[in-house]
Amino acid sequence: MAFSQDILCIGAGYVGGPTMAVIADKCPDLKVTVVDINPARIAAWNSDDLPIYEPGLLDVVRRARGRNLFFTTDVPTGIRAADVIFVSVNTPTKTFGEGAGRAADLQYWEKTAREILANSDRPKIVVEKSTLPVRTAEAMRRILNSNDRGLRFDVVSNPEFLAEGTAIADLESPDRVLIGGEETADGRRARRVIADIYATWVSRDRIIESNLWSAELSKLTANAFLAQRISSINSISALCEKTEADIDEVAYAIGTDSRIGPRFLKASVGFGGSCFKKDILNLVYICEHYGLHEVARYWEAVVKMNEWQQTRFVRTMVSAMFNTVAGKRIALFGFAFKADTGDTRESAAIQVTRQLLEEHASVVITDPKALDNARRDLEHVTGDVSFEADPYVAAAGAHAVAVLTEWREYRDLDFRRILDSMVKPAFLFDGRNILDHDALFEMGFNVFAIGKSPRLHF
Ligand SMILES: NC(=O)c1ccc[n+]([C@@H]2O[C@H](COP(=O)([O-])OP(=O)(O)OC[C@H]3O[C@@H](n4cnc5c(N)ncnc54)[C@H](O)[C@@H]3O)[C@@H](O)[C@H]2O)c1
Repeated sequence: MAFSQDILCIGAGYVGGPTMAVIADKCPDLKVTVVDINPARIAAWNSDDLPIYEPGLLDVVRRARGRNLFFTTDVPTGIRAADVIFVSVNTPTKTFGEGAGRAADLQYWEKTAREILANSDRPKIVVEKSTLPVRTAEAMRRILNSNDRGLRFDVVSNPEFLAEGTAIADLESPDRVLIGGEETADGRRARRVIADIYATWVSRDRIIESNLWSAELSKLTANAFLAQRISSINSISALCEKTEADIDEVAYAIGTDSRIGPRFLKASVGFGGSCFKKDILNLVYICEHYGLHEVARYWEAVVKMNEWQQTRFVRTMVSAMFNTVAGKRIALFGFAFKADTGDTRESAAIQVTRQLLEEHASVVITDPKALDNARRDLEHVTGDVSFEADPYVAAAGAHAVAVLTEWREYRDLDFRRILDSMVKPAFLFDGRNILDHDALFEMGFNVFAIGKSPRLHF
C-alpha cells in the first residue's frame, strides 16, 4: 500500500510508543516507524510483552503493528525515509557540570539533531515531542540548518500532555493538542502539516497553535501547576493532622468551588513520576538563568514540599511504632508512582523504602505491575528488602502495612485475613487515602491516613 506520508519517531519510550501507536491506529494512510537505540526495547515492542504497561495499549499496537506501525533499531534508514520526524528521547535532569541537579541534560537531544542532519538528503519537519527548556528549538534549528547542502528543516514544538496510566484515553481524546511553530510562512505550513495529522481524530477546536516558545513553556508550566496543586493540598494535610480537620473534607469543600475545581486535590505520600520534579527543576534553572530568583524560589518550594511530605510519612510511621522500626517487617503495598502503570521513576515509594531501610526495618514490597522496576531501583540499596507478588504473603508476619500506590485492587483486599496474619498491635498507614479507615479501625488496625487524625486502640 502507498502511504501518504512517512512519519518517524525517535525514542520508543513511555511517550514515543503509545503516541505513535495511536497515530498509526487513527491514520492508516500514514506509515509510522518508531526507532530506538535500545534493541531490547524494540524487541519488546515487536512482541506481545510490551516494554511498558498502559491499559488498552496492547490492543492499539496489535491493530496497527505490521500494517502501518513498525518498530526498529535502524535509525539512519528511518530518518532517510521520513517526511516528519518526532523526537521523543529522554531529557533527564543533568547530573554533572553546570546546572547539575536542575538543568535538563540535552545530550540525547543534541545527538538526535546531529543524527537527523547526517542522514537527511531532503527537507523535513522535526517535531519536539520531548519536554524541553523554553528556546531549545532555537538550538535545534541552528544545528539542523547549519549545513552546506542547502537542506532546510522546520522545527515544530508539539509537547505531549498524556498522563501515564491513562495514556491511551488521553491520546484518543485529548483536552488539547498544542502545536508551536515559527511565525513565518514555512513555520505556519509545518504547523499545519502536524495539525492535519491530529485532526484525523481530534476536533479542530482542540488543536491549539502558538509560537514555538509558548508551546515549549506551556508544557513546563502545565506540569508545574499540576505538581503545585498536589504540594498545596499536601501542605494542608500536615495542618489537618495537627488540628483534627480532615483533608478529604477540606479538599471536597474547596474543590466544589468552580474557580478551583476538584481534580488534583488528593492528598498523598507525595507525587512521583519522571516529569514533575524534573520539569519544575528545569523551570527553576531557566528562571535563575534569566535572573528571576524570586520566581525560581517560588517553584522550587513545590519540589521541597513534596520531599518533605515523603519524609514526614516515614517519620509518622517510625514515631507511631514506638519510635523504632528496626527489625520490624513492613509491607509496602504499591511501588509504582501511580496506579495503572509499572513506571516507578521518582516514585515516593523509593524514598520511603530507603528511609525505612536506614531505620533498619525489614521491607517487603508488593505491586501488581512494578516489581521488576522496583528490583532495579533498589539494586544497590543495602538492607533487608524483598519482593513479593502476593499482598497477603507480603503482609503475613508484618508489624505494618503501608499503602503507597492507589491500585484499585488494594481496596478490595480481605483485610480481616491480612490483620489475622500480622504481628499485633497491627499498623496500617494509608499513603493514598483509598481505604475505609473506620472499618479498618473497627476491625482492629491502628490506622494512620494522610491529613487525618490517627485512629488508635491504645
Ligand atoms: N512519561 C511521561 O508521562 C511523559 C509525558 C509527557 C512528556 N514526557 C516527555 O517525553 C520525553 C520522553 O519521555 P519518556 O518517558 O518516553 O522517556 P523514556 O526514557 O521512556 O524513552 C526515551 C527513549 O529514547 C531512547 N533514545 C535516547 N536517545 C536516543 C537516540 N539518540 N536515538 C534513538 N533513541 C534514543 C531511549 O533509549 C528511550 O527508549 C521526555 O522529555 C519527557 O519529559 C514524558
